[in-house]
Amino acid sequence: MIIATKISEVRAQVAAWKKEGLTVGLVPTMGYLHEGHTSLVDRAGKDCDRVVASVFVNPTQFAPGEDLETYPRDFDHDCALLEAHGCHLVFHPEVEEMYSQDAATFVEILSEMPKQLCGKTRPTHFRGVCTVVSKLFNIVTPDKAFFGQKDAQQLAVIRRMAEDLSYPVEIVGCPIVREKDGLAKSSRNTYLSETERKAALVLSKAVFLGEELAGQGERDVKQILGAMRKLIEEEPLARIDYVSAVDGVTMMPVENMQGQILFAVAVYIGKTRLIDNFIWKG
Ligand code: PAF
Repeated sequence: MIIATKISEVRAQVAAWKKEGLTVGLVPTMGYLHEGHTSLVDRAGKDCDRVVASVFVNPTQFAPGEDLETYPRDFDHDCALLEAHGCHLVFHPEVEEMYSQDAATFVEILSEMPKQLCGKTRPTHFRGVCTVVSKLFNIVTPDKAFFGQKDAQQLAVIRRMAEDLSYPVEIVGCPIVREKDGLAKSSRNTYLSETERKAALVLSKAVFLGEELAGQGERDVKQILGAMRKLIEEEPLARIDYVSAVDGVTMMPVENMQGQILFAVAVYIGKTRLIDNFIWKG
């Protein structure tokens, strides 16, 4: 596995692969990898001849006071996992390689989409995500890029951006990977104490409950959200950020069960903010 820290190295390697007629899949990550990430690498390996993963904790998607400095990092472990899952190149740039000191250009979606759900408490987050992902698309020029469905709003935002900016890349959404007890895998799970880890199960329990109700034929969005909310409120360590139902493509709130609906939750467990979701298709 090649470890590249410079944009020029990535460009040269990808150009060589493309000259051979090979397809390239990109898995963008912020490192501290777990099975959620490796499932994306596995899928990329199935779909593409060469797999590039980026490991970069992107400062522009963190607001002041968020966990940029404390975000968990373990690059050696990341490399071992990536290599074991058949990744061909890992791009691990310094911040200065990605953002020059006088960088002044951002990629921002100006519709309501990034202002919904997580955008309400993290108003600049998706601008940072779109900017770095668009830079990665320009650097790696992948045929396909792989993102987890756990970050459902991020996936929707990136699909919008890729279409609006005519990127010749297919965006592939991959299923949520869960711990045995249901908790969605997340690098931020490492912030949880033992007691908080148990409390965090309310997220997946709420998601499973909502899915079950919808599966049993409940067609009242408010009833489903109400039941999910009630379950979370019973956990003393949980503080709800949102329990929402939105259109699966536009991310705008919905009241009727029609089309593709994203039921999404964001909950603080102590100081740690976790997210989870399910998609209902009519
Ligand atoms: O999902 C993430 O880990 C990040 O938001 C991403 C897509 C790698 C951009 O920094």
